[in-house]
Amino acid sequence: MEKYVIKGGVKLSGEVNVSGAKNAVVAILPATILSDEPCVIENIPNISDVTITLQIMREMGAKIRLLNKTTVEIDPRPLMNMSIPYDKAKLMRATTYFLGTLLGRFHSAHVSMPGGCNLGDRPIDQHLKCFSALGAQCEIDGGMINLRADKLVGNQIFFDKNSVGATINGIMAAVKAEGLTVIENAAKEPHVVDLANCLNSMGADIIGAGTDVIKIRGVRELHGTTYSVIPDQIEAGTFMAAAAATRGNILIKNVIPKHLEPITNKLLKIGVQVEQYDDAVRVIGGENYVGTTIKTQPHPGFPTDMQPQMSAVLTCAKGASMVTESIFDNRFRYVDELRRMGANISVEGRVAVIEGVERLKGAPVKSTDLRAGAALIVAALGAEGTSDIYDIFHVERGYENMEMKLRNLGANICKVDETEPVSDDAEKKAI
Ligand code: UD1
Repeated sequence: MEKYVIKGGVKLSGEVNVSGAKNAVVAILPATILSDEPCVIENIPNISDVTITLQIMREMGAKIRLLNKTTVEIDPRPLMNMSIPYDKAKLMRATTYFLGTLLGRFHSAHVSMPGGCNLGDRPIDQHLKCFSALGAQCEIDGGMINLRADKLVGNQIFFDKNSVGATINGIMAAVKAEGLTVIENAAKEPHVVDLANCLNSMGADIIGAGTDVIKIRGVRELHGTTYSVIPDQIEAGTFMAAAAATRGNILIKNVIPKHLEPITNKLLKIGVQVEQYDDAVRVIGGENYVGTTIKTQPHPGFPTDMQPQMSAVLTCAKGASMVTESIFDNRFRYVDELRRMGANISVEGRVAVIEGVERLKGAPVKSTDLRAGAALIVAALGAEGTSDIYDIFHVERGYENMEMKLRNLGANICKVDETEPVSDDAEKKAI
């Protein structure tokens, strides 16, 4: 097992390129199963969630060719297997997307209940409600979700919860259903729009993605496409937070500044400078920040996936900050780890109150999930002294080459085998 060793206190500087969006690509790759021809998907991030997704598709029979480091060609025609066992499904939440896409293509799907980050209760009732509305029979047996339909027929679906996953699954299942499907209270996240754009480029008829109401008119066939995944909003946001925490000055390239606005606005509010360009943002840290309030909300609100990283920045903002998590039940598990570094945070239910301290101090800490790991990296980069961050496999699920990208920005970070002593050696490597 590997860990990051970070010697904090270096102001980040230089430029970094953001990779393709994890949450878009984990939907778009399975969506190619709906196509009747090969598809080429570009700007794919090299992260373990992508490796797992492609492995699942290969095992199902799809032909996959890597055309270059960020581009794959997927021929879904030979795909026969409609089942994903526990050992794969437990690795990531987005294996649920195979439910929608397999149902859409074969009218049958068998997928083990999904894993993914432990953020509290993560039901899939809205996904199942949608499949049922389209005419599928859904049953859960032995930990498997089994879907079967004689045919899929469009319907009106109102989501009781605003859910990214259920919206994406609803779109995938409806794309080849007979007639019109209308999804109300749909999620508006950029990756929902990206999936819809990709499917439309394959000949689907989806309108309204990015609004509360998405209309999908079923088509018989989808053709091949060449489609480029959008840049990762959360990776970009994490670099923004890292620049702020280190009082650095960095140019973050290959971004869609509009997607970053909720993050930009909060950073501006606490005293960080953010300059926006066409496809880049420059973040210039200040010496003194002031606390603020944050409440996570569905897009275009402040993204829950940036809550831990932003809280890491607020640990050293003057005064009190209040962070309310309104999407997930249990997204403060990283707080104990930040406390090890000297942060003054109390949590009551879904609200964290952060009293700013002068400076965090390096410590051994453990990633409890993907974005928690990112928050610890942000905190460690800004802290005095050395931090060892364990369980970094969480981080590698969603960040491409985090260590190298940060090193190119001047950070003292290295990845070492956990069994190596936490020694000067590791520190020297980091330097
Ligand atoms: C996706 C993202 C994740 C992000 C989250 C919220 C992917 C692969 N993951 O996760 O990074 O943190 O959106 O932006 O894109 N809910 C139900 N019933 C359901 C489905 C969801 O009650 O059937 C609830 C959840 O418990 C949660 C809320 O709805 O409280 C939002 O969840 P959802 O948007 O579905 O999150 P995911 O799609 O799992």
